[in-house]
Amino acid sequence: MLAHARALLASSPQGRTAYIDADLRDPAAILASAELGETLDLTRPVALSLIAVFHFIPDSADPHGIAARLLDALPPGSYLALSHATADFDPGAEQLAATYRARGVSMTMRGRAAVERFFGGLELVEPGVVAAQRWRPDDPTSGAVADAQVSGYGGLARKP
Ligand SMILES: C[S@@+](CC[C@H](N)C(=O)[O-])C[C@H]1O[C@@H](n2cnc3c(N)ncnc32)[C@H](O)[C@@H]1O
Repeated sequence: MLAHARALLASSPQGRTAYIDADLRDPAAILASAELGETLDLTRPVALSLIAVFHFIPDSADPHGIAARLLDALPPGSYLALSHATADFDPGAEQLAATYRARGVSMTMRGRAAVERFFGGLELVEPGVVAAQRWRPDDPTSGAVADAQVSGYGGLARKP
């Protein structure tokens, strides 16, 4: 995976990209990495995309604190896009987390309030934190997909 990332995530005339081999549980290392410093201009708004990853971070690792530390490093006008697995729409979705855990991978389904906490202090963009397929779908038929089939929340918010 790292070999593919290094081969494919190459900078181009359209913009710089970089891949940091880091653990999300160590945001200080991510923020201090040379790759980040050479790639992002932290004086200008940045899009922080945390898609489908925080359900792999257990409460004991303080996922909300991690998100806050990453956001603290970004200037006003930056955005956070985040999605997260949930069992709110289907308690049976807990089985997915149990299956991961049985194979040694930490997975934590979180409810609406815990997902909304990731956006604390930010200005949520309408329609707020909703079942991910309901967040301004390009395809109008996406809204017809049952929430239980997706079992994930999504949201976007601006740092004031
Ligand atoms: C469901 S995938 C989502 C990937 C990507 N965000 C996307 O939307 O295509 C979850 C990713 O989280 C990564 N991941 C899980 N725990 C992590 C951690 N502690 N630090 C960094 N990445 C982690 C996994 O390696 C995997 O690539």
